Amino acid sequence: MTTSSATAVAHPNIAFIKYWGNRDNELRLPMNGSISMNLKGLSTRTRVTFDSSFPTDIFDLNSKRQTGSSLDRVVKHLNFIRGLRGISTHAHVFSENDFPTSAGIASSASAFAALTLATVAALGLDIPEANLSRLARRGSGSACRSVPSGFTEWRKGHSDLDSFAVTIADPSYWSLTDCIAIVEENQKKVGSTEGHATAYTSPLQAARVADSDRRLDICRNAILKKDFQALAEIVELDTNMMHAVMMTSNPPLLYWQPITLEIMTSVSAWRKTGLPAAYTLDAGANVHVLCEAEKAEIIQRRLSSLPGVKQVIISNVGGAAHLL
Ligand code: DP6
Repeated sequence: MTTSSATAVAHPNIAFIKYWGNRDNELRLPMNGSISMNLKGLSTRTRVTFDSSFPTDIFDLNSKRQTGSSLDRVVKHLNFIRGLRGISTHAHVFSENDFPTSAGIASSASAFAALTLATVAALGLDIPEANLSRLARRGSGSACRSVPSGFTEWRKGHSDLDSFAVTIADPSYWSLTDCIAIVEENQKKVGSTEGHATAYTSPLQAARVADSDRRLDICRNAILKKDFQALAEIVELDTNMMHAVMMTSNPPLLYWQPITLEIMTSVSAWRKTGLPAAYTLDAGANVHVLCEAEKAEIIQRRLSSLPGVKQVIISNVGGAAHLL
């Protein structure tokens, strides 16, 4: 019997310029590049153990044995990495999020970043960060952005070989903070994978994609210049464009709740009256409110006072996926 094991930690991320729609769903080659920041306050810890005596792969998430599509997705990822090493040994995957799964925060990014790194390490493969990011991308597109540190950009690339994420600024470069207003604690009804597959049915998707390099340039420059006003405007435009595509896809995806819209209009009003904040939403009703660190407390207080906001989670900029 041979055993080998490794444990990795990765943070989820919040996208400033969103990934929505693939040119290749199998390889997860995106229609457009994207930019995000890792969320230090939240993490996934994953231990992968290969053992020649295991009869099958097993996946435990937050102490619950997984079956069906949740297990299948992990096995598919393990199979790909095992193929690189030319082995078929089964694995036990133990994964834990330190944030409530019920908080409706997407965890596929941190999940597949941590799974990729732990699997590669347990198999004794030594691969550079760009290739780890490429591998993580196959498991979940946004996971490729959780591999490098800080503010990261996923270049859409031409093929599997050059579609990966790189750091554009380290966590200490700018103390941005994400105040996550949790308004919906249930799992989203239509997941991102299904949404990516129908993005092309929206007549607005082509325009969103055609304009994406412009938005990426503005966003990257705003980060590098620490220009919050410019960042706020482009981040809100980008999330609005993605949700416009979602709403006009077939079938339509409408993730907002009344409280979602109330937070969005409040945040825009706060900014106009001198409190710099910007909203962005993923494929769900929760609202991520970005601000500079010194404004986080007042924003947390204001968000918490809105009826319908169940909790507000605060996170600064996080580092790279790493081994323990
Ligand atoms: C709205 O990476 O979760 O959060 O590749 O199918 O796992 P899969 O999708 P996923 O999509 C993320 C969509 C988003 C925007 C973003 O994070 O860029």
